[in-house]
Amino acid sequence: MNVKLETKRLYLRPITQNDAQDFFEMDSNPKVHIFLGNNPVTSVEQSKSKIEGILQQYKDYGVGRLAMFKKDTGEFVGWSGLKYERELRKEFNYYDLGYRLKEEFWGNGYATEAAIASLDYGFKDLELEEICAAAHINHIVSNTILKKIGMHPSGTFEYEGDLCNWYTLKKIFTNSKTPF
Ligand SMILES: CC(C)(COP(=O)(O)OP(=O)(O)OC[C@H]1O[C@@H](n2cnc3c(N)ncnc32)[C@H](O)[C@@H]1OP(=O)(O)O)[C@@H](O)C(=O)NCCC(=O)NCCS
Repeated sequence: MNVKLETKRLYLRPITQNDAQDFFEMDSNPKVHIFLGNNPVTSVEQSKSKIEGILQQYKDYGVGRLAMFKKDTGEFVGWSGLKYERELRKEFNYYDLGYRLKEEFWGNGYATEAAIASLDYGFKDLELEEICAAAHINHIVSNTILKKIGMHPSGTFEYEGDLCNWYTLKKIFTNSKTPF
């Protein structure tokens, strides 16, 4: 997969196995997983295996989460972007928008910035008709972001006993380059 996205402060590029140490630092933090319904990783090997899954998604669907870096320092911030999601909603598959950052970078607007670029990429370059997202109903920050970037609250659903908010956004432009 050959894609590079750029925002004012960030650039995003495909994840590689060279990112495993950064993934481990991010995903070994229990605070990162509070609303994700999974456990922190405990070894770099586990992060490598998760990256292997992402590389397979790139091959299978031509889309997947992207690693995100600060332009000014080159630091790994986290991942963001689209994923062809086949498991979260039992009834259908969809293109999911998501983000996950190292804790030290929270609260700077980076997730919002990357999410807007990901929507733009999905509608403009991938020509998707619809992008969706989900957030645990108690995850105030993620719900705030999804509403702020213009995704439509579209009900709730249950996933493994947790109630989640469901968001959708359809391509709403014809000739213009951006849906915003
Ligand atoms: C969720 C996460 C990606 C947010 O990243 P971030 O870069 O800190 O988010 P941003 O700074 O872009 O936006 C956060 C927004 O939430 C708002 N916010 C934060 N705390 C809030 C609160 N208690 N109540 C209401 N809004 C709140 C912020 O003010 C900000 O909005 P603003 O830009 O309008 O001020 C990050 O916390 C993370 O990686 N968490 C762990 C993984 C995760 O939960 N991923 C999402 C799964 S759905």
